[in-house]
Amino acid sequence: MDQKARLIQYAEALPKAELHLHLEGSLEPEMLFDLAQRNRVDIPFANVEAVREAYQFSQLQDFLDIYYQGMGVLQTEQDFFDLTMAYLRRVTADNAVHVEVFFDPQGHTERGLPFDVAINGISQALKVGESELGVTSELIMCFLRHLDEDDAIKTFKAAEPWMDQIIGVGLDSSEVGHPPSKFERVFKMAKDAGLKSVAHAGEEGPPEYVREALDLLKIDRLDHGNRSLEDAALVERLAEKGMTLTVCPLSNLKLCVVSDMHNHPIKHMLNSNLKATVNSDDPSYFGGYLNDNFRSIIETLDLTDSDIKQLALNSIDGSFLNDAAKQKHRAAIEAVAY
Ligand code: ADE
Ligand code: ZN
Repeated sequence: MDQKARLIQYAEALPKAELHLHLEGSLEPEMLFDLAQRNRVDIPFANVEAVREAYQFSQLQDFLDIYYQGMGVLQTEQDFFDLTMAYLRRVTADNAVHVEVFFDPQGHTERGLPFDVAINGISQALKVGESELGVTSELIMCFLRHLDEDDAIKTFKAAEPWMDQIIGVGLDSSEVGHPPSKFERVFKMAKDAGLKSVAHAGEEGPPEYVREALDLLKIDRLDHGNRSLEDAALVERLAEKGMTLTVCPLSNLKLCVVSDMHNHPIKHMLNSNLKATVNSDDPSYFGGYLNDNFRSIIETLDLTDSDIKQLALNSIDGSFLNDAAKQKHRAAIEAVAY
């Protein structure tokens, strides 16, 4: 077996956590069609192939337009349950042992669904995932940054009865023009309520947005963070803090954050002592789940077995698991022979 094939096999076998996954972005075209039929929702596609053909994006907004349209087929608790179970089945096949997943409540309440529909269906599935598939999980509620902060605060208040099911808040959607500073108050409310916080920053937005996420939102983890690399002092600060970056290689390629996978910065991030992790973001839209993302970087970059192991360890260390669980998973990673 050649070197790359061996590295891929090693990456696939390692236990790992996925820390950057939008549940609505795991809606596969087949399920999109099934749910459209079940719920009598019109979708502008003739068949599954036409959906896949539409997944060509030249920037984040191209994807977001189709992503918000796609989530319109999600109508009932059962739909959210089915969506979440399908993701958990798929990611446990990739040897994920823990996942921290995002959902976008405003993407559903904006189109008239009561707040509880999404979270009830998702939470039920996460429980079944743990009991039947053995995968532990946490749920992160994201605010849509193209909407105003008052809407985020309204959403945060609507979530109060479900706070015990949410570990943290996040920030996603159209980045440029919607800096983290716009959401300082609601992130402070979340921190005061004992929640963790994460934010997408430096995907398309400038390094300054990463600084704002650190200084104003006081994030515990940075989603993407690619453009931090343009600012050496910022890289040093992130490395010193031990900040985890949830990097999404196939997403970066599909959304033209990188022009070619050969130019992907994840190896450079590791060499700069950044705690990078590998994640799938929106796997049904970007062409692959967790192990597909590992495969894509192994095939194109000069990663070593120790890089691969570091990426898996970073995913456990950067999770919101307790120390005992982290220790258990670290030992399981060490036990996998290269
Ligand atoms: N929502 C879902 N995926 C996203 C991404 N990659 N960036 C911003 N918002 C998102
Ligand atoms: Zn994302």
